[in-house]
Parts: sequence; C-alpha cells; structure tokens
Amino acid sequence: MKLSHRITHLTGGGSDGWDVFYRARRMIAEGQAVTELTIGEHDIRTHPSILAEMDRSARAGHTGYAMVPGTDLLRDTVAARVQTRTGVPTTRHNVLITPGGQAALFAAHMAVCDPGDVGLYLDPFYATYPGTIRGAGAVARAVQTRAEDAFQPDAARIAEQAEGAASLLINTPNNPTGVVYSRESLTEIADLCRERNLWLISDEVYDTQVWDGAHLSPRALPGMADRTLVVGSMSKSHAMTGSRCGWIVGPEEAIEHLINLATHTTYGVPGYIQDAASYALTAGDELEEEVAAPFRRRRALAMQVLARQNTVGLIPAQGAMYLMLDIRATGQSGEDFANALLDTHAIAVMPGESFGQAAAGHVRVAMTIDDDRFAAALQTLCDFAARLASQTAAE
Ligand SMILES: Cc1ncc(COP(=O)(O)O)c(C=O)c1O
Repeated sequence: MKLSHRITHLTGGGSDGWDVFYRARRMIAEGQAVTELTIGEHDIRTHPSILAEMDRSARAGHTGYAMVPGTDLLRDTVAARVQTRTGVPTTRHNVLITPGGQAALFAAHMAVCDPGDVGLYLDPFYATYPGTIRGAGAVARAVQTRAEDAFQPDAARIAEQAEGAASLLINTPNNPTGVVYSRESLTEIADLCRERNLWLISDEVYDTQVWDGAHLSPRALPGMADRTLVVGSMSKSHAMTGSRCGWIVGPEEAIEHLINLATHTTYGVPGYIQDAASYALTAGDELEEEVAAPFRRRRALAMQVLARQNTVGLIPAQGAMYLMLDIRATGQSGEDFANALLDTHAIAVMPGESFGQAAAGHVRVAMTIDDDRFAAALQTLCDFAARLASQTAAE
C-alpha cells in the first residue's frame, strides 16, 4: 500500500553520521564496556520529591483526561515563571502545555507554516529539526552558522535564505554546540523577523543550563512577543525526559488555535504529570540547580583537560549539557574521528556531521557520565587526537 510522501520523506535517509551512535549501542548490547558520551540524557533520575507529587496526584484521581490546554495550575505556573524571567506580561492564555518540547516544536510549525512555506533553521541543528518542519508540511531550509563565528547566527546570511520563509527556528542555549546566543545576535535576528515578517520559533529547553553569560529569551525583545513562539520543557531542567511535559508560550490568538490542534492530535498531557511539573517549577531554584550542577562541574573539568593541550579546540561552552570539540587538526572528519575513537578506546561521541554540515570536523561530547570517568575519557580523546595530528603532520 502507498504511504504518504509526508511520512516517507520525513528524514533525508542515509546514515547522516549516526552510524557511530548505533554501533556504540550494539557494542553495549553485546556486553562491551563503552564510555557513552552521545546522548542528552542526564545520569541522574527525576528527583524523589517530584515523583512523590506525581504519586500523590495520581492517587488523588488525576488519572483521567486532563484539560487539553493544560491544567490551570500548570499554565499559571509556566506563565508566572516566564513573566518573572523575561518581564513580558504572560498569562495562562499565552500558554499551551504539550507532551514535551518535541511536540511543541511540531505544533509551533503547524501553527505558522502553510504547506510549501519555508521553515528556516540553523545548522548545526538538533537532530529532529528538519523532519519536524517537513512533518508540518513546510520546506525545511538550513542556514549555516560558522565555527569561525563560534556558531553564533549571522542575520545577514539568514536574510539571504529567507525567500518564501514563514518561520525561523532557533535554539539557545544550543544543542549541539553549547553556545548561548548573544544579545547582539538575537537583536539582529529579531530585526530580521520584523523586517521579513517571519515567525520566530525559539527553542529554549536548555534555559536553566547556562554556564557563561545569561540566557535571553527573544520574546522579550521589542516587538517580538506578537511573533514569537517559545518552546519550553521539563525534560532538561528537571531531569524529566520520560515524563513528556513541555509548553509553547506565544500570542493568545496563536495559542487558541494551537489548543484546537492539540484537541485533534495529543489530547493533552496526563494530569498527574502536570501536577508534578507545577510542583517542580515552584519548588525553588535549588531543584534546578541540582540538575544543572553536574554539567557545570564537568564543563569546568573539561576546560582544565583541554587547557593542557593544543590539538583539540573547544567552541565556547556557554550552556546546555554538551561540548563541541574542533578536531580538524587531526586531519579527519568528525565521523572518521568518532569511529576511530570508538574502535580504539571504546569511547562514543557524536560526529559533528550528524548535526548538519556546519559542524563538520567537530565532535559533540555529552557531559552525561560521572566526573572521574568523564575527565578520563576527555583526556583519552585529547591524547588520541594528538597522536592522529602528529601522524598527519608526519605524512
Ligand atoms: C534542542 C532540543 N530541543 C528540543 C528537545 C526535545 O526535548 P523534549 O521533547 O524531551 O522536551 C531536545 C531534546 O534533546 C533538544 O535537545
């Protein structure tokens, strides 16, 4: 039977640099000891106090259908949090609760792109971006950022690609690069969105993980609240990846239509998960800091290891749970380097090429294992890179 073009062409096909990831998974399944630095999943679990609230709520009967837009409590909680952190007036009517940030990304594109409209996104990109845009019926068009610019977006380059575009998707703090977009970059992007009448879809799921500088939500920039859909999530901030709870914050009219979309797609998020999220968001900054602290520590460890050598370059690691390492001095592609590192030292990292072309010659390291093993793995990676670089130089 024929399947739709939409679903059969969601992703580009081919390996896209993910071979090393699947190979590492197979090695682990076969019982080999692999140091796994590929995936953005915390090495801690959801805090017991959040689980206790989930349990309390479920036992109190919140296991039936919840309100499709989200419970009043969680919508109010998210609105208050966003207003406090950004200064932009926000009420529950600006908030839709979604099953995670991923569902929010899809719904946001459904809301602003008609079939055939271009949805812009920046390369390097979070793996699902192009497929999400295509799934919403739009044409996914990547705009490259450059290692030389520390992967900060360049509004002039985006403008060159903006013909036919309805939306621009950005992500700060950024996965995969670990870069936090500067006020200057975001101001230029905001100017561009206003000039070219673009919606800005701002993925801020790592907003509690900033190590250097400060997170700026572009919705707070002049004239942007009317044309920005912010994607947020409990996944990264509270180690609740499996609870599937996120949100979209945007103009009331857009949220009204998005609620209608949710009615016809997800039909909401479980009430006991939403109660747990409301609890977590009001439990104080300590809970968030507890989740962020291991990454902050490991980032500091990484800076020490990297400072002792000069083969591997570090893209400024300002936020999120990843490091983007420049391994071009080895003369290898990110994919070849990652495969060789896996074969030689059983350390699995993601090739930069798996996040688009802009991060070719780089590898992404997730800071998601305990400190000692993390520092040791990074040291091994650097030593390995130095050996490859000296072989290349000798050739
Ligand atoms: C940049 C980015 N956006 C969105 C998501 C989706 O997160 P979730 O659906 O778990 O909220 C992720 C997950 O890794 C991500 O890295």
